[in-house]
Amino acid sequence: MLENKTVFLNGQYLPLNEANISVLDRGFLFGDGIYEVIPSYLGQLFHFKAHFERLEASLQVIRLANPYSYDEWLALLMPLVDATKNEYIYLQITRGVVPKRDHAFPETSVPTVFAMCSPIVVFQGRETGIKAVTMDDSRWQLCHAKTINLLANILHRQAALDAGTAEAILVKDGIVTEGAASNVFIVTEGVLITPPKSNAILPGITRDVIVNLAHEKQLACREEFFTLAQLQAAEEIWVTSSTREIVPVIELDGVCVGKGCPGAVWVQMDAIFQAYKQSLQ
Ligand SMILES: Cc1ncc(COP(=O)(O)O)c(C=O)c1O
Repeated sequence: MLENKTVFLNGQYLPLNEANISVLDRGFLFGDGIYEVIPSYLGQLFHFKAHFERLEASLQVIRLANPYSYDEWLALLMPLVDATKNEYIYLQITRGVVPKRDHAFPETSVPTVFAMCSPIVVFQGRETGIKAVTMDDSRWQLCHAKTINLLANILHRQAALDAGTAEAILVKDGIVTEGAASNVFIVTEGVLITPPKSNAILPGITRDVIVNLAHEKQLACREEFFTLAQLQAAEEIWVTSSTREIVPVIELDGVCVGKGCPGAVWVQMDAIFQAYKQSLQ
């Protein structure tokens, strides 16, 4: 049965089972839209400004005006959040409903705006570590935009699950990009390394927080490309995202990473990250 929580759709708060959109919505017809995922810890939105800026950047890539200002977004989202829970907001904006199916942008359209809040379920492998598999990155050249075109990511994640692992780590022309739904870090000779921002990866908010915390705590951290061979030789591998936080990878393509358990740098960074989250409450 559909949980009947309150959601936001096109200016209205209404029960989820009454939130309907047209089959002529360009999000449905073409995947013509973008989304964001914003954690809310006990009612405090985590790095909302960074999420808002990424939302604007994604909208710019697809040439759609932001329907709301920063303050309007905050006012719109806060009623969805429960101050006693850890949750995440999912929000989606599409180019709206059109009179007919045509690839070209409509001359006029009203964007469809949807937002809902769901509980953050602590990810099982967060403390014990996960298995991952590498695969060729089949995605396009707009990975820096958080678009709702997730079919390639879905197929990668499902292939990882089918292989008995929890995440796919993607490799383009021998260079590691990111996970199917996460950014990637390695630890090599004690140095934390993550790929620099480019159109080959989503600029993850968790990634940025980790890089900033590492600099603040004077942990060696570099943003640079690394190869599949460097990934395979890494002392530690982590995948990061808003809802899973920092997850150690303890097995890659059936081979142990480091000692086959979460590494010392992960233990340190996870503690720093958790303390940082607490400090924002
Ligand atoms: C492809 C991809 N990369 C990276 C991330 C991590 O981004 P964030 O830390 O903002 O959740 C995600 C999150 O879902 C993602 O889908």
